[in-house]
Amino acid sequence: MDDLVSLERAIAKDPALRAVLETVRSKLGDDPGHDVAHCMRVALWTVRLLPDDERVASTRNAIAAALLHDVVNVPKDSAERSQASERSAHEARAILGAVGFDERDVAAIESAIRTHSWSRGLAPESTLGAALQDADRLEALGAIGVLRTASCGAKMGASYFAQEDPWGERRALDDRRYTVDHFFTKLLRLEGTLRTAGGRAEARRRHAFLVAFLDQLASEIGVPSPGPRP
Ligand code: ADP
Ligand code: NI
Repeated sequence: MDDLVSLERAIAKDPALRAVLETVRSKLGDDPGHDVAHCMRVALWTVRLLPDDERVASTRNAIAAALLHDVVNVPKDSAERSQASERSAHEARAILGAVGFDERDVAAIESAIRTHSWSRGLAPESTLGAALQDADRLEALGAIGVLRTASCGAKMGASYFAQEDPWGERRALDDRRYTVDHFFTKLLRLEGTLRTAGGRAEARRRHAFLVAFLDQLASEIGVPSPGPRP
């Protein structure tokens, strides 16, 4: 499975995956960072990041796990936010059972979803879990990462950057107020946290894009960027 069209075909010819996708579609809200398109990109990369000798056997579970990984959305500012992946895993179990996945597959998918979240910080229990975690983490980097960061910041009412100190050199970083601060609080630190070899290679490419984006921004706004940080 190498592109979105083959992913869509794989789902279309599998009635249980089709039912899962329809359920997910009916449950996800309108946040472009966590919509069906996000789930499809995560599915594509979860499959790509499976070990070569497991890809055939695990592709179906990888697609199901990715489609369902954000099925329960807890708002960013809620105290229960860190429970989101546990709740999604629980909900996934119910949905998968209802569409006919057997218990072994349900358990594998449930575990991968439960451990996927960045904020929760749990270690994956399988290669599927590692692939899902990396695939979701890649979404915060690269071109998609820039789009998600911009839309997330806009939703929180943040400015793009602090006019008087865009790179946060003389103040505490505050990514709820300044969207570019999020690059320094989180995005530029993600690269080293991926677990699969393919995920790390792709994270390097996407990290380089973020750095290029900041350099371009620096030249456009006329405030030289500080370069790499510790
Ligand atoms: P996840 O959905 O993987 O648990 P988040 O909800 O933290 O992660 O992030 C969703 C997307 O929103 C990511 O691309 C992330 O970088 C972005 N994001 C999170 N916090 C901020 C912020 N304060 N400002 C801008 N973007 C943010
Ligand atoms: Ni996600």
